[in-house]
Amino acid sequence: MAEAAYVIECRGLRKVYPGNPPVEAVCGIDFLVRRGTCVGLLGPNGAGKTTTLEILEGLLKPTDGEVRVLGGTWDSDELRLRRRIGVSLQETRLADRLTPRETLHLFRSFYGCGPSVEELLLLVGLEDKADAYIRNLSGGQKQRLAIACALVGEPELIFLDEPTTGLDPQSRRQVWSIIRNLREQGRTVVLSTHYMEEAEQLCDYVAIIDRGVVIAEGPPVSLVAELGGDHVIEIAIEQGNPDPAQIESLPGVRDVGQFRGLLQLTVTDPQLALEALLHYMRQNGVVAATLRARHASLEDVFLRLTGRTLEEETPNL
Ligand SMILES: Nc1ncnc2c1ncn2[C@@H]1O[C@H](COP(=O)(O)OP(=O)(O)OP(=O)(O)O)[C@@H](O)[C@H]1O
Ligand SMILES: [Mg+2]
Repeated sequence: MAEAAYVIECRGLRKVYPGNPPVEAVCGIDFLVRRGTCVGLLGPNGAGKTTTLEILEGLLKPTDGEVRVLGGTWDSDELRLRRRIGVSLQETRLADRLTPRETLHLFRSFYGCGPSVEELLLLVGLEDKADAYIRNLSGGQKQRLAIACALVGEPELIFLDEPTTGLDPQSRRQVWSIIRNLREQGRTVVLSTHYMEEAEQLCDYVAIIDRGVVIAEGPPVSLVAELGGDHVIEIAIEQGNPDPAQIESLPGVRDVGQFRGLLQLTVTDPQLALEALLHYMRQNGVVAATLRARHASLEDVFLRLTGRTLEEETPNL
């Protein structure tokens, strides 16, 4: 039988946690994941990423909606699906007094096939720490071990819930390279993150989730392109009163917004826009404390859509 193009199809997904008042964590999400791609759920704390993932992983029951994973449903195909997916939860509690080698042996014993313990250690770069107690591993090493645990059954579909939160930049890059390898092997990866850069670096397709709904989705470059300009100029004003409407009409400028005391211009032609902007500032007695030009990013997409930054929503970053 031909494999379906989509490994995940979910429609009208809703999850209400009971309580007083009840929490509507997921409010009608439609979500498709194409085989062999890396797809990211991007959103701030409490957006509903973990809830969505845990429903797709068959760990939580949705209140409403239809979920198909690898062509089956959790109600009728649980055993088959469990064998074919790998899961790394947002927080993995590994046994402190076991070593990575022992842990992987244990996890492997649950599956009839899959890579050897040595291969797994190599895959996540933990050969040196194979026999150290887990309690003596760094955060990044523990995270890589958690990913190795998700890979023991050689899954074709892998869920990673915030694989790099709390990691230093170097560990983060190591995890990125593991994820890139998985994708290169033709596996499908669904991950959640609140790091825009991570989504841009790794994902073929991103769904930006905010307060339980998907507010934008597409390949990262297309989402950024939808801003209508691919560069952003940010100015902190030291002196003078620039008129946003006038700045918006300058050549090369697509749009002007004000945010956290910064004037933010989305621009289609940075050189043209900068020249016109500097001229406007000189003519109108506007002095900048700082002026910065950069590529537009998913962060700008989120800001445009919500009026907030992900950082504001994610105080632990
Ligand atoms: N077991 C639960 N009972 C009640 N409410 C819950 C439960 N789990 C999550 N929630 C609520 O559901 C909403 C979505 O939570 P969820 O964990 O899915 O968000 P998230 O996007 O994964 O956030 P984070 O980035 O912090 O991990 C939040 O408002 C949260 O407080
Ligand atoms: Mg979460």
